[in-house]
Amino acid sequence: MRLYPPAWVIARSANGDDDVAGHPVAAGDWLFLSPWVTHRNPEFWPSPDRFDPDRFLPEAVAARHRHAWIPFSTGQRKCIGDQFAMMEARMVLVTLMQRARFAARPGQQVTPEPLVTLRPQGGLPLLVTPLALGEAKSAAPLRAVPEPPPARSSRCPFPFH
Ligand code: HEM
Repeated sequence: MRLYPPAWVIARSANGDDDVAGHPVAAGDWLFLSPWVTHRNPEFWPSPDRFDPDRFLPEAVAARHRHAWIPFSTGQRKCIGDQFAMMEARMVLVTLMQRARFAARPGQQVTPEPLVTLRPQGGLPLLVTPLALGEAKSAAPLRAVPEPPPARSSRCPFPFH
């Protein structure tokens, strides 16, 4: 949800003339906010490309700007399903991890594809090893995940600007 936010860009059109951080905005202009970019801003996320779930410990969250993590947008039009989506994702993950281990193939590259939502180009085929009943506790720790792709800058990597 931080490194690969499904809603990687959020659009707004200006109701009236305005000024955003010194940039003039005319009525009707489109503005794009990118959670992808904000979620990789080193001002809020040291070593932004590193996957580190501890960034979401309560004390870390409390110390960070409240808009540094905006996978569900923010303000009046914020997603109404945010709590539901996070709970659902955890339940799906727990259910799957109780039954199997999932691994990328050696050397497998995953290329993000920025359509309306962000998705892995060509899908995400994984090697699935089913676990025997009760094996989940002794199986490999859940944090043994591959590192994300090599460092990207916090600039939006997509080609339209
Ligand atoms: C990972 C899952 C989800 C993500 C990343 C997500 C993301 C977002 C984002 C970024 C917006 C704001 C769009 C904008 O401002 O232009 C939004 C709006 C909305 N989402 Fe979600 N969403 C998710 C799941 C859900 C679920 C499960 C529901 C319903 C149960 C839901 C219902 C809505 C609705 C109704 C809005 C419009 C709110 C409004 O305009 O007042 N979303 N979502």
